[in-house]
Amino acid sequence: MDGAFTAVAPEPISSVEPMIFREAMAKLGAAVHVVTSAGAGGRTGFTATAVCSVTDAPATLLVCLNRRSNSAPILAQNGVFCVNTLGAGEEKLADIFAGRSGVHLEERFAVGEWITLRTGAPVLASAVVAFDCRTIEVKAVASHNVFFGAVEAVRLGPAGQALVYHDRLYKKV
Ligand SMILES: Cc1cc2nc3c(=O)[nH]c(=O)nc-3n(C[C@H](O)[C@H](O)[C@H](O)COP(=O)(O)O)c2cc1C
Repeated sequence: MDGAFTAVAPEPISSVEPMIFREAMAKLGAAVHVVTSAGAGGRTGFTATAVCSVTDAPATLLVCLNRRSNSAPILAQNGVFCVNTLGAGEEKLADIFAGRSGVHLEERFAVGEWITLRTGAPVLASAVVAFDCRTIEVKAVASHNVFFGAVEAVRLGPAGQALVYHDRLYKKV
């Protein structure tokens, strides 16, 4: 066993083609969130499924954000973000914050009721649940930045079905 897990030399990275990976990921159903941020860098938000719990002590989650997104520099500058998990009836918000309606940055907040908790990041009052986070670490991985956030506050929204993205369609669970 000695040395069985010791890397001895850098190996070339081998992975499947992006298209194969994208097709495979389409089969993986995921909750739909709107990740928001506000502060000195301005106010912004984007639709995301790449959100994951990291550990519960201290409560930490991660969000993956494409560095080409308009939100990327704003999130980095503000140092805070909120993960708003969408309810079943909020497809329209998901499309707005995915840029599918041609609405950008601040203008995206014209729809929905927005409040704040601790960090000042916009919290969607109708969200199934909202995680108000302060960024503790950012790691660049290829095209994306992974934001790790300490969850400073949680807000449970109205009970009801949640919105999920599966097979490139919105579904309700
Ligand atoms: C269902 C769905 C999930 C998405 N998940 C992510 C994600 O996890 N990370 C990401 O960077 N972009 C994700 N996107 C794309 C962003 O929402 C989109 O690129 C962004 O809102 C564009 O913002 P911009 O106009 O501010 O650049 C997703 C889009 C959709 C429709």
